[in-house]
Amino acid sequence: MLMRDFDENNITAAVVERFANTPDPRLREILSSLVEHLHAFARDVRLSFAEWSRAIDFLTRTGQMCSDTRQEFILLSDTLGLSMLVDAIDHPAGVGATESTVLGPFYVASAPELPLGSDVSGGLPGEPLYVEGTVRSPDGRPVANAIIDTWHSDADGFYDVQLPELAEPALRARFRSDAQGRFHFWSIVPRFYPIPDDGPVGDMLKATARHPFRPAHVHFMISAPGHETLVTHVFAADSPYLDSDAVFGVKNSLIREFTHERASTGPDGRPMQRAWRKLSYDFGLKQKALAMARRGAA
Ligand code: BEZ
Ligand code: FE
Repeated sequence: MLMRDFDENNITAAVVERFANTPDPRLREILSSLVEHLHAFARDVRLSFAEWSRAIDFLTRTGQMCSDTRQEFILLSDTLGLSMLVDAIDHPAGVGATESTVLGPFYVASAPELPLGSDVSGGLPGEPLYVEGTVRSPDGRPVANAIIDTWHSDADGFYDVQLPELAEPALRARFRSDAQGRFHFWSIVPRFYPIPDDGPVGDMLKATARHPFRPAHVHFMISAPGHETLVTHVFAADSPYLDSDAVFGVKNSLIREFTHERASTGPDGRPMQRAWRKLSYDFGLKQKALAMARRGAA
């Protein structure tokens, strides 16, 4: 078969055919489908050369913005809803399991492990927040020794990694659940904040009259032997932007009141001279064996 003289009608099949000998069948499936959708998109919008060129420039700048501490491509995926779509495909909701959401760029793998009850505020100003919860299997049994990695923004909407004046990690730590699957710690109430918008993704948001904000939330990554690692957040019910999150990460099941509590004694006996807030959330982890069986059955 002659492979020349391609036009709008026959080029897609020719490119797909060129992948026919790809040894890995999954790679062949993905690349063939990608080409079909990409070509269909170009035909659909009647893409001009100038527009193609502008898109190449945008993607080039997106790559150039990436560094060890900035992942502009993931931010692009987040703001196009692709991250949450992949999350929905790969982490379907399960009975007794907490829903997942985006990881985000502010996770730090080496956060310090602290004893239960620690205060992670690092002395930063803000309304005191008591966070408590449990970690359970889908059958309701407590998961002891689960690692609860948590991080969140400060009262101005900044993460510790965005505050150069901080010498130590703050508003982040790892805890270990007790024999009843419980954990608790103190911090301060986080604020809503803009995603990093000083790069090409920010340009895209501005050009499309979209705002860059995420509603206030506390991140959790929870892992335990025999269970799937859960990546999620809990959103504050009184926060703005719950219905317009820049990265489409909000789920109803992840919204909680951060309740208002009067000056008194904290649940752990800590004397509280001022008003404070409380967040309670019970997390459910999927069992690993069940997840593998589901994939096998699919
Ligand atoms: C975050 O919640 O930390 C986040 C998630 C996605 C993009 C930017 C920030
Ligand atoms: Fe966040």
